[in-house]
Amino acid sequence: MRSGLSAVACALWFYRLRGSSMCGIVGYTGYREAEPILRDGLKRLEYRGYDSAGLATVTGSGLCLRKSVGKIADLADVLQRQPAPGTSGISHTRWATHGEATLANAHPHLGGDGEVAVVHNGVIENHAELRSQLQADGFTFRSQTDSEVIAHLIAKYLDGDPVEAVRRAVSRLRGTYGLAMISPRFPGVLVGARLGSPLVVGLGSNENYLSSDASALRGYTEDVVYLLDRQLCVLTPNSGNVLSVELAPAEPVVHRLNWDMEDASRGEYEHFMLKEICEQPEVIDRAMAGRLDEVDSTAHFGNLSLDPQKLNQIDRVIMTACGTSYHAALIGEYLIESLARLPVEVEYASEFRYRNPPLDRKSIVLAISQSGETADTLAALRESKRKGLPTLALCNVVGSSIAREADCTIYLHAGPEVGVASTKAFTAQVTVLTLLALHLGRLRNLSASAGTRILDELQQMPDLVRQTLDCHDEVKRIARKYHHVSNVLYMGRQYLFPVALEGALKLKEISYIHAEGYPAAEMKHGPIALVDEDTPSVFLVPQCPSYDKTMSNLEEVKARGGPVIAVACPEDERIAGRADDVILIPRVAEHWQPLVAVVPLQLLAYEIALLRGCDIDKPRNLAKSVTVE
Ligand code: F6R
Repeated sequence: MRSGLSAVACALWFYRLRGSSMCGIVGYTGYREAEPILRDGLKRLEYRGYDSAGLATVTGSGLCLRKSVGKIADLADVLQRQPAPGTSGISHTRWATHGEATLANAHPHLGGDGEVAVVHNGVIENHAELRSQLQADGFTFRSQTDSEVIAHLIAKYLDGDPVEAVRRAVSRLRGTYGLAMISPRFPGVLVGARLGSPLVVGLGSNENYLSSDASALRGYTEDVVYLLDRQLCVLTPNSGNVLSVELAPAEPVVHRLNWDMEDASRGEYEHFMLKEICEQPEVIDRAMAGRLDEVDSTAHFGNLSLDPQKLNQIDRVIMTACGTSYHAALIGEYLIESLARLPVEVEYASEFRYRNPPLDRKSIVLAISQSGETADTLAALRESKRKGLPTLALCNVVGSSIAREADCTIYLHAGPEVGVASTKAFTAQVTVLTLLALHLGRLRNLSASAGTRILDELQQMPDLVRQTLDCHDEVKRIARKYHHVSNVLYMGRQYLFPVALEGALKLKEISYIHAEGYPAAEMKHGPIALVDEDTPSVFLVPQCPSYDKTMSNLEEVKARGGPVIAVACPEDERIAGRADDVILIPRVAEHWQPLVAVVPLQLLAYEIALLRGCDIDKPRNLAKSVTVE
């Protein structure tokens, strides 16, 4: 890093992290016009939050502030009518936590009489108290947000040094923040600070960047520095400094990112979600690449720093995750218990972190997260580490908080997942969990011949998933038949129970149809009361040991007049006569079924949402990384 403004004293903050808002930040300082760069970065971060957006630039005569309610396209319209000149600026796309999605609540917020502009991701817990104090000092509030207190605090402390002002301001905050500020009094200077909400510095030549997510910097720089908690950064066009909380300039590690430009664009597809569904065969290939060891009939992970002896002593695996990643973990439970004969528990991260379960030192905690930033999963990981347990992360986003904080991390290599509904990350998670189960199994009792068979079968999965995608036309037909319904039930057993949960989650999040997944046999214990002619049930009935049992459950639904959509194998001669609609998937061994069975469910959700006119890549009320607890 090049030298920049002087380091300043930082106070120590001791309090518990509670999470942060799920918004996106992009900042720029350099020799080019900032506005197009900020707008472009925001567009890439839009999946993080999209209820309002704004930017501020420093011009020769002061600050230029532009905001809009709605998506980045709305902000772009504003900017077309009223451009924002200047070669430094900050910007933000918001997912509301405090205050509705209004123009006043959109970031950036101005401090004092426009001495500073601030964007903030996070939750300030003592904002009410600070607001009263600042109002008593004569500051006027223009929004309902917790973030505005930061802008006024910085303005209050702004004297000769903007870094000192930020330092003093953040020392008053209780909660979490990833923030960036600019001031017309210090043109070209961008100050950032992080506690509990990610910030990454992008290093360029005569220009520097700041963002809440490295993906916003794609195409601008490959060299990034991830700020750590309680660090500040000071950027000018020619310098980028990271400061530790103890005053001293920190020694930042510069990471070189390997962007794949193709991956982050929609290409020929109408939506990222469809592109990501169709990419799944390649995703399985990438998740396996370099990890299959045919000599020892096992899987290896280059960076698995837990030595085999320690792994062998482990007598319990605890997996923790949220949402789709939690469903992948449930499949991991079946896989690890079956192949490695190790007891596994799967817990929602939000429950695990507060439950204080008895944990012994022979357990390993596996945190599974596509984004690597999910607040609850991160907190569960930290809690496990605090208790002295070894931790392993399965993450997709390289350099994310969970990936960096776990004792070791296995990356999914799924490529950027932009659609808010997770699809290819799930498939990559299940693939990596299979490899991990194989690895743990081979350290224990799994025979070499069983290991070889699993490797052989695994290598056929990309092609089998490719074949499964051929069901798309049939799924489109079924979607046309059912897209008007209000409730859908999903049923599966064993490995397919978590897939039923995942199918239901996909449908509800992007089509807003109420859907629930159940173990098929649970129907009789309550959910069957929901069955009527307007409530279709999706039954996962490929050939497997529980086929007959699941078919009996299917008959119970039919007997009550419920329409049945079956996901079955072409070899099944009974199913056509029993189900109203059938989606065919290739026949595979039981432990591979999730990888093929999930595909038609993802497509069904997609096609139904499309027919209902929903905003598929940005479903209402959701955001891609849930960094609020
Ligand atoms: C569903 C979905 C969410 C995420 C969940 C966890 O389609 O995307 O349920 O799976 O928020 O996110 P990660 O995996 O980033 O921790």
